[in-house]
Amino acid sequence: MNWFITMLRSSIGKKLMMALTGLFFSFFLLIHLIGNLTLYGGKDLFLSYVEHLHALGPLIYIAEFGLLTFAIIHISTGLILFLQNLQARPVRYQVNKRAGGRTIGSATMPYTGVFILTFVIIHLLNFHFIDHSIQTVFQAIDTTFSLFPYVIFYTIAVIIVAIHVSHGFWSLFQTLGANHPKYMPAIKGMGIMLSLLFAVGFGFIPVYVSFIM
Ligand code: HEM
Repeated sequence: MNWFITMLRSSIGKKLMMALTGLFFSFFLLIHLIGNLTLYGGKDLFLSYVEHLHALGPLIYIAEFGLLTFAIIHISTGLILFLQNLQARPVRYQVNKRAGGRTIGSATMPYTGVFILTFVIIHLLNFHFIDHSIQTVFQAIDTTFSLFPYVIFYTIAVIIVAIHVSHGFWSLFQTLGANHPKYMPAIKGMGIMLSLLFAVGFGFIPVYVSFIM
Protein backbone atom coordinates (compact mmCIF):
# COMPACT_ATOMS: atom_id res chain seq x y z
CA MET A 1 0.00 0.00 0.00
CA ASN A 2 2.94 2.33 0.82
CA TRP A 3 4.26 2.16 -2.72
CA PHE A 4 0.81 3.16 -3.96
CA ILE A 5 0.66 6.26 -1.74
CA THR A 6 4.27 7.20 -2.64
CA MET A 7 3.42 6.86 -6.33
CA LEU A 8 0.26 8.97 -5.97
CA ARG A 9 2.31 11.72 -4.31
CA SER A 10 4.53 12.10 -7.39
CA SER A 11 3.31 14.06 -10.37
CA ILE A 12 4.10 11.27 -12.84
CA GLY A 13 2.34 8.76 -10.56
CA LYS A 14 -0.82 10.87 -10.64
CA LYS A 15 -0.65 11.20 -14.41
CA LEU A 16 -0.15 7.45 -14.71
CA MET A 17 -3.23 6.86 -12.56
CA MET A 18 -5.25 9.27 -14.73
CA ALA A 19 -4.01 7.48 -17.85
CA LEU A 20 -4.74 3.93 -16.65
CA THR A 21 -8.18 4.72 -15.22
CA GLY A 22 -8.96 6.72 -18.39
CA LEU A 23 -7.95 3.71 -20.51
CA PHE A 24 -10.31 1.55 -18.45
CA PHE A 25 -13.19 4.00 -19.08
CA SER A 26 -12.46 4.05 -22.83
CA PHE A 27 -12.66 0.25 -22.82
CA PHE A 28 -15.94 0.40 -20.85
CA LEU A 29 -17.35 2.95 -23.32
CA LEU A 30 -16.45 0.72 -26.27
CA ILE A 31 -18.23 -2.29 -24.71
CA HIS A 32 -21.16 -0.05 -23.68
CA LEU A 33 -21.45 1.29 -27.24
CA ILE A 34 -21.38 -2.21 -28.77
CA GLY A 35 -24.20 -3.26 -26.39
CA ASN A 36 -26.25 -0.15 -27.09
CA LEU A 37 -25.94 -0.62 -30.86
CA THR A 38 -28.49 -3.46 -30.45
CA LEU A 39 -31.08 -0.64 -30.17
CA TYR A 40 -30.75 -0.27 -33.94
CA GLY A 41 -31.98 -3.87 -34.22
CA GLY A 42 -35.23 -3.00 -32.41
CA LYS A 43 -36.81 -3.41 -28.99
CA ASP A 44 -36.61 -7.25 -28.78
CA LEU A 45 -32.93 -7.43 -29.70
CA PHE A 46 -32.10 -4.69 -27.19
CA LEU A 47 -34.10 -6.32 -24.37
CA SER A 48 -32.44 -9.68 -25.12
CA TYR A 49 -29.03 -7.95 -24.77
CA VAL A 50 -30.10 -6.39 -21.42
CA GLU A 51 -31.32 -9.82 -20.22
CA HIS A 52 -27.99 -11.44 -21.11
CA LEU A 53 -26.15 -8.58 -19.39
CA HIS A 54 -28.13 -8.94 -16.16
CA ALA A 55 -27.69 -12.74 -16.29
CA LEU A 56 -23.97 -12.14 -15.66
CA GLY A 57 -25.02 -11.59 -12.01
CA PRO A 58 -22.05 -11.10 -9.65
CA LEU A 59 -19.73 -10.21 -12.56
CA ILE A 60 -21.83 -7.09 -13.13
CA TYR A 61 -21.44 -6.06 -9.48
CA ILE A 62 -17.65 -6.55 -9.74
CA ALA A 63 -17.56 -4.42 -12.92
CA GLU A 64 -19.71 -1.73 -11.25
CA PHE A 65 -17.45 -1.73 -8.19
CA GLY A 66 -14.44 -1.33 -10.53
CA LEU A 67 -16.14 1.53 -12.39
CA LEU A 68 -16.96 3.37 -9.15
CA THR A 69 -13.47 2.87 -7.65
CA PHE A 70 -11.75 4.01 -10.85
CA ALA A 71 -14.12 6.98 -11.14
CA ILE A 72 -13.21 8.10 -7.60
CA ILE A 73 -9.46 7.74 -8.36
CA HIS A 74 -9.77 9.50 -11.76
CA ILE A 75 -11.83 12.43 -10.41
CA SER A 76 -9.85 13.00 -7.18
CA THR A 77 -6.46 12.72 -8.92
CA GLY A 78 -7.66 15.04 -11.71
CA LEU A 79 -8.82 17.57 -9.12
CA ILE A 80 -5.45 17.48 -7.30
CA LEU A 81 -3.55 17.93 -10.59
CA PHE A 82 -5.84 20.84 -11.55
CA LEU A 83 -5.28 22.59 -8.19
CA GLN A 84 -1.50 21.98 -8.36
CA ASN A 85 -1.43 23.51 -11.86
CA LEU A 86 -3.32 26.55 -10.59
CA GLN A 87 -0.86 26.96 -7.70
CA ALA A 88 2.14 26.65 -10.02
CA ARG A 89 0.71 29.40 -12.22
CA PRO A 90 -0.89 31.94 -9.85
CA VAL A 91 -0.91 34.77 -12.41
CA ARG A 92 -3.01 33.90 -15.44
CA TYR A 93 -1.44 34.61 -18.81
CA GLN A 94 -2.62 37.83 -20.43
CA VAL A 95 -2.72 36.22 -23.85
CA ASN A 96 -3.99 32.66 -23.95
CA LYS A 97 -1.79 31.38 -26.75
CA ARG A 98 -2.36 27.90 -28.13
CA ALA A 99 1.34 27.23 -27.75
CA GLY A 100 3.08 24.11 -26.41
CA GLY A 101 0.56 21.68 -27.80
CA ARG A 102 -2.38 23.34 -26.00
CA THR A 103 -5.62 22.48 -27.77
CA ILE A 104 -9.31 23.00 -26.98
CA GLY A 105 -9.33 19.42 -25.65
CA SER A 106 -6.38 19.90 -23.27
CA ALA A 107 -7.43 23.35 -22.03
CA THR A 108 -10.95 22.21 -21.20
CA MET A 109 -10.21 18.81 -19.59
CA PRO A 110 -11.26 19.80 -16.02
CA TYR A 111 -14.47 21.46 -17.23
CA THR A 112 -15.49 18.69 -19.64
CA GLY A 113 -14.68 16.26 -16.79
CA VAL A 114 -17.10 18.01 -14.39
CA PHE A 115 -19.77 18.08 -17.10
CA ILE A 116 -19.32 14.34 -17.78
CA LEU A 117 -19.69 13.58 -14.05
CA THR A 118 -22.98 15.54 -13.99
CA PHE A 119 -24.12 13.77 -17.16
CA VAL A 120 -23.30 10.29 -15.78
CA ILE A 121 -25.30 10.97 -12.58
CA ILE A 122 -28.36 12.08 -14.62
CA HIS A 123 -27.82 9.16 -17.03
CA LEU A 124 -27.78 6.60 -14.20
CA LEU A 125 -30.98 8.10 -12.77
CA ASN A 126 -32.58 7.85 -16.23
CA PHE A 127 -31.64 4.26 -17.09
CA HIS A 128 -29.91 2.42 -14.26
CA PHE A 129 -31.72 3.26 -11.03
CA ILE A 130 -35.17 2.49 -12.38
CA ASP A 131 -37.90 0.34 -10.88
CA HIS A 132 -37.79 -2.76 -13.10
CA SER A 133 -41.22 -3.88 -11.84
CA ILE A 134 -42.78 -0.75 -13.37
CA GLN A 135 -40.83 -0.39 -16.63
CA THR A 136 -38.25 -2.15 -18.78
CA VAL A 137 -34.91 -0.52 -19.64
CA PHE A 138 -36.25 -0.05 -23.17
CA GLN A 139 -39.32 1.84 -21.90
CA ALA A 140 -37.02 4.07 -19.83
CA ILE A 141 -34.98 4.90 -22.95
CA ASP A 142 -38.12 5.43 -25.06
CA THR A 143 -39.71 7.75 -22.47
CA THR A 144 -36.50 9.75 -21.93
CA PHE A 145 -35.85 10.31 -25.63
CA SER A 146 -39.48 11.24 -26.30
CA LEU A 147 -38.57 14.46 -24.51
CA PHE A 148 -36.71 16.78 -26.89
CA PRO A 149 -34.57 18.51 -24.21
CA TYR A 150 -33.10 15.07 -23.33
CA VAL A 151 -32.29 14.39 -26.99
CA ILE A 152 -30.35 17.69 -27.10
CA PHE A 153 -28.72 17.07 -23.69
CA TYR A 154 -27.53 13.56 -24.58
CA THR A 155 -26.25 14.64 -27.99
CA ILE A 156 -24.25 17.53 -26.49
CA ALA A 157 -23.02 15.25 -23.68
CA VAL A 158 -21.60 12.61 -26.02
CA ILE A 159 -19.83 15.31 -28.07
CA ILE A 160 -18.23 16.55 -24.83
CA VAL A 161 -17.31 12.96 -23.91
CA ALA A 162 -15.68 12.64 -27.37
CA ILE A 163 -13.61 15.84 -26.86
CA HIS A 164 -12.48 14.58 -23.42
CA VAL A 165 -11.55 11.14 -24.80
CA SER A 166 -9.70 12.60 -27.78
CA HIS A 167 -7.30 14.56 -25.58
CA GLY A 168 -7.17 11.83 -22.90
CA PHE A 169 -6.08 9.23 -25.45
CA TRP A 170 -3.23 11.43 -26.70
CA SER A 171 -2.23 12.31 -23.13
CA LEU A 172 -2.15 8.61 -22.17
CA PHE A 173 0.62 7.92 -24.69
CA GLN A 174 2.51 11.07 -23.63
CA THR A 175 2.46 9.80 -20.02
CA LEU A 176 3.64 6.35 -21.08
CA GLY A 177 6.55 8.04 -22.88
CA ALA A 178 5.41 7.02 -26.36
CA ASN A 179 5.72 10.58 -27.68
CA HIS A 180 8.13 9.83 -30.53
CA PRO A 181 7.51 12.31 -33.39
CA LYS A 182 7.28 9.35 -35.77
CA TYR A 183 4.32 7.73 -33.94
CA MET A 184 2.56 10.79 -32.51
CA PRO A 185 0.52 11.64 -35.66
CA ALA A 186 -0.74 8.01 -35.77
CA ILE A 187 -1.60 8.10 -32.04
CA LYS A 188 -3.42 11.42 -32.46
CA GLY A 189 -5.28 9.98 -35.46
CA MET A 190 -6.35 6.91 -33.43
CA GLY A 191 -7.60 9.17 -30.60
CA ILE A 192 -9.66 11.22 -33.07
CA MET A 193 -11.08 8.04 -34.67
CA LEU A 194 -12.06 6.63 -31.26
CA SER A 195 -13.72 9.87 -30.17
CA LEU A 196 -15.57 10.15 -33.51
CA LEU A 197 -16.80 6.58 -33.02
CA PHE A 198 -18.17 7.53 -29.57
CA ALA A 199 -19.67 10.83 -30.80
CA VAL A 200 -21.44 9.30 -33.80
CA GLY A 201 -22.24 5.89 -32.25
CA PHE A 202 -23.76 7.21 -29.00
CA GLY A 203 -24.87 10.57 -30.44
CA PHE A 204 -27.17 9.11 -33.08
CA ILE A 205 -29.03 6.83 -30.61
CA PRO A 206 -31.24 9.57 -29.04
CA VAL A 207 -32.10 10.91 -32.52
CA TYR A 208 -32.87 7.39 -33.79
CA VAL A 209 -35.05 6.46 -30.79
CA SER A 210 -36.85 9.80 -30.85
CA PHE A 211 -37.54 10.25 -34.57
CA ILE A 212 -37.05 6.94 -36.42
CA MET A 213 -37.86 4.01 -34.11
C1 HEM B 1 -27.12 7.62 -26.06
C2 HEM B 1 -26.16 7.03 -25.45
C3 HEM B 1 -26.33 6.04 -24.31
C4 HEM B 1 -27.34 5.14 -24.05
C5 HEM B 1 -28.58 4.83 -24.87
C6 HEM B 1 -26.99 4.46 -22.83
C7 HEM B 1 -27.75 3.46 -22.22
C8 HEM B 1 -27.53 2.92 -20.97
C9 HEM B 1 -28.39 1.99 -20.29
C10 HEM B 1 -29.70 1.45 -20.84
C11 HEM B 1 -27.83 1.70 -19.08
C12 HEM B 1 -28.41 0.79 -17.97
C13 HEM B 1 -28.01 -0.64 -18.19
C14 HEM B 1 -28.71 -1.49 -17.15
O1 HEM B 1 -28.64 -1.19 -15.97
O2 HEM B 1 -29.32 -2.47 -17.56
C15 HEM B 1 -26.59 2.44 -19.00
C16 HEM B 1 -25.70 2.38 -17.95
C17 HEM B 1 -24.55 3.12 -17.85
N1 HEM B 1 -24.07 4.04 -18.77
FE1 HEM B 1 -24.92 4.47 -20.55
N2 HEM B 1 -25.80 4.94 -22.37
C18 HEM B 1 -25.35 5.93 -23.24
C19 HEM B 1 -24.20 6.68 -23.14
C20 HEM B 1 -23.31 6.64 -22.07
C21 HEM B 1 -22.13 7.45 -21.95
C22 HEM B 1 -21.64 8.45 -23.01
C23 HEM B 1 -21.54 7.12 -20.75
C24 HEM B 1 -20.28 7.64 -20.11
C25 HEM B 1 -19.76 8.81 -20.32
C26 HEM B 1 -22.36 6.10 -20.13
C27 HEM B 1 -22.11 5.53 -18.91
C28 HEM B 1 -22.90 4.57 -18.29
C29 HEM B 1 -22.59 3.96 -17.01
C30 HEM B 1 -21.37 4.26 -16.13
C31 HEM B 1 -23.62 3.04 -16.74
C32 HEM B 1 -23.75 2.11 -15.51
C33 HEM B 1 -23.19 0.76 -15.87
C34 HEM B 1 -23.53 -0.28 -14.81
O3 HEM B 1 -23.75 0.07 -13.68
O4 HEM B 1 -23.58 -1.45 -15.14
N3 HEM B 1 -23.42 5.83 -20.96
N4 HEM B 1 -26.43 3.17 -20.15
